[in-house]
Amino acid sequence: MNLNHQTGITAEASSDASFILLDAVEGKEASLRQALASCPELICAVQNQFPDAQLHAAVGFSTHCFYRITQCEPPKELAPFPSFSGPFLSVKDEAYDLIMHIRSNRHDATHTLALTLFKAMSDSVKLRTQTQCFKYLDNRDFTGFVDGTENPEGEDRAAVALVGDEDSDYQGGSYLNYMKFVHDLEKWEHQELKIQEDTYGRTKYDNEEYASAEKSPHAHTKRTSLKDEQGQSLEILRQSMPFGDLHEQGLVFVSYSKTPVIFDLMLQSMIQGDEHGHADHLMQYTHASSGSAFYIPTPEFLKRLA
Ligand code: HEM
Repeated sequence: MNLNHQTGITAEASSDASFILLDAVEGKEASLRQALASCPELICAVQNQFPDAQLHAAVGFSTHCFYRITQCEPPKELAPFPSFSGPFLSVKDEAYDLIMHIRSNRHDATHTLALTLFKAMSDSVKLRTQTQCFKYLDNRDFTGFVDGTENPEGEDRAAVALVGDEDSDYQGGSYLNYMKFVHDLEKWEHQELKIQEDTYGRTKYDNEEYASAEKSPHAHTKRTSLKDEQGQSLEILRQSMPFGDLHEQGLVFVSYSKTPVIFDLMLQSMIQGDEHGHADHLMQYTHASSGSAFYIPTPEFLKRLA
């Protein structure tokens, strides 16, 4: 699939990222439209300034502002983040309007692009929150396990992440799901290695997957390995990254998908569990109370907002 898309969606894992959540100021929609239309050109200009930085961006809208900003009917599946409640976690929609996911292999490049886009939007947006993320060891989460191993590779990344002709007006876009998990690392680090490995269904140091029969129904990889009625694997493209300071450490979870339904099913399977109530034991060691859902349009869609 060779659809023109914002490259922050499908590019390989980065070593630095910034996740920026914004609200669109009431009454400033026209100037925001102009700023969003200029984003593709601004992104190219900063990419040229840092040619070796693998600088990528994805800029998109939630259902809470899509029509107000774009004056277009929304993509077919754009909806608020789902609400789920289970033994370890309850989540609901955190209503942000816009997201900017900016990433590269140089913090100065990420920062320059974030600031350039934010300044272009100036007083038409209000900054709600920004999280700086970084590569930890060999792409490990702070729990010490490699994250992203089973992600789709090569051309499959676009096939999994990009909307196809099922929604022809929005082909080449992607549905992004965002959650910020804060870990209880003290609790996690008190667990024996075997318990940690059983929690994921993978080994820690050499990152081997357990045989299916060996996996607990509570294992994270069991709860998130879903199949459709024809037995085909349901897939998302994860672009999560660790964040941390001296106060808290965790993971910004981000996934891209051609439909948000797959993420919703995985999250439901993690939080509520299977038909016997087997919920994801990873959720005993980390916490998120909300999440947000966005649509990332093509660069052409943004340009047409002018
Ligand atoms: C697999 C970490 C949340 C979906 C994994 C793996 C790790 C991990 C270490 C195994 C290696 C791999 O990437 O394949 C985490 C952490 C999370 C988190 C630390 C939050 C604190 C989520 C959420 C979802 C999700 C919210 C989706 C709703 C998946 C999927 C896999 C996976 C689809 C691959 C399963 C497989 O096919 O084996 N995760 N994850 N994860 N995770 Fe997560």
